[in-house]
Amino acid sequence: MDRVLVLNGPNLNRLGTREPEVYGTATLEDVRAGLVARAGDVEIDLRQTNDEATLIGWLHEAVDARTPVILNPAAFTHYSYALRDAVALVTGAGVAVIEVHLSNPHAREQFRHTSVVSGVSTGVIAGFGEKSYHLALDAILRSS
Ligand code: DQA
Repeated sequence: MDRVLVLNGPNLNRLGTREPEVYGTATLEDVRAGLVARAGDVEIDLRQTNDEATLIGWLHEAVDARTPVILNPAAFTHYSYALRDAVALVTGAGVAVIEVHLSNPHAREQFRHTSVVSGVSTGVIAGFGEKSYHLALDAILRSS
């Protein structure tokens, strides 16, 4: 494995200023830098989109290239069956998708308690701020 895709869904481009009491003050660029510092020779390809179709296209790219994925689906977590199906086709092909969340959705509003993605993900890490991403990378590097 020479690359990890780190895919981020809607509103995560606003990290740093978006509800800092919930998501912390680290920006997505800080997240990228933290991952690069831990990844050694493995390339960190971090992307963000507010568009569901784009996110699904990136998952198709992941399965074609057999690239493991760290995925923060953001609000799509809670209702996007299209995203769930895309994750299922990646993990079904034996390529890891680790679902991550900065916050702990289970400690928040009721609608956040449901993830339609978790059931087809390789694993889920939530509630550790930007460290959720670090732990996910650790899981991928240790299992490669
Ligand atoms: C989130 C949690 C989601 O409920 C929310 O919609 C997000 C961010 C998190 O990282 O904690 O946008 O995925």
